[in-house]
Amino acid sequence: MKKQKILVIGAGGQLGTELVQGLWKVYGQENVIATDIKDPQEVLAQARFEILDVLKQKQLFEFIKKNEITQIYHLAAVLSATGEKNPKFAWHLNMDGLIHVLDAAVEFKVEKVYWPSSIAVFGPTTPRHQTPQHTVMEPSTIYGISKLAGERWCAWYHRNKGVDVRSLRYPGLIGYKSKPGGGTTDYAVDIFFKALTEKRYECFLRPDAYLPMMYMEDAVKATLDLMEAPAEKITVRAAYNISAMSFCPQELASEIKKHIPDFEIAYNPDYRQAIADSWPASINDTQARQDWGWQPQYNLARMTEDILHHLPRLLAEKV
Ligand code: SER
Repeated sequence: MKKQKILVIGAGGQLGTELVQGLWKVYGQENVIATDIKDPQEVLAQARFEILDVLKQKQLFEFIKKNEITQIYHLAAVLSATGEKNPKFAWHLNMDGLIHVLDAAVEFKVEKVYWPSSIAVFGPTTPRHQTPQHTVMEPSTIYGISKLAGERWCAWYHRNKGVDVRSLRYPGLIGYKSKPGGGTTDYAVDIFFKALTEKRYECFLRPDAYLPMMYMEDAVKATLDLMEAPAEKITVRAAYNISAMSFCPQELASEIKKHIPDFEIAYNPDYRQAIADSWPASINDTQARQDWGWQPQYNLARMTEDILHHLPRLLAEKV
């Protein structure tokens, strides 16, 4: 196999910081170039890192050429809540960034491209429970609209230009090593930090707001498994549904209370509740399981235990 040179765009984000470390294990630290528009967090201190803005097409093309990149993981995006505040910029970054990457893949014969989609591609008219792979998709957020359009662009570049681009519709991603920025599912990360530092959390969603969620370990595994699968197994060239667990804030709070009995939660729903209401409560991921063997490892109890086991040490180190 030809030596792989991996470019990660948006590596300083919630997913990027953990995916880069997963890629190190597969391809070796020296073959993974982490890039972002600003310096990475401490977590990526050992990474081979460079500043790169996906919106600057010329710079991006030169970078890919110079470094003889064979795989691109393009993660830079504006998420759902932030996107509603600045819709034009969200569209610009989420769309033009992707098209730049797909064009570069054609130009420099990049072997594989990964681009994340989201449950935000679904909308209020989508069947809410066990949402199928192929269904009604009328997203109401700009983020969701851009992800749905992006899925179609990926399928188009695969069909017409032969780009081996692959994608997953992530549920809310929960990790403790890095924080999300501007998503509707961010509460499920913030709550752990607040439970440990203040024993109290004020939630911006209603207690019964059910959403599909996934522990970061599973998200990284799903991404690497999808990218390692033989091309002929990938029957979906838009993005795969993947699922691990679904819960609401009240259930997450009860699970945390098993470990921190005096933890308290209060509810003060804001504009993000309407976004949550437009998304599925649970996802059917049969296609991903059949095509490339997707299988999650973490449920709510196991994830909570793992986070509350590791996060206190991380917080103590930061003080
Ligand atoms: N976690 C994302 C968000 O809330 C969904 O893809 O925006």
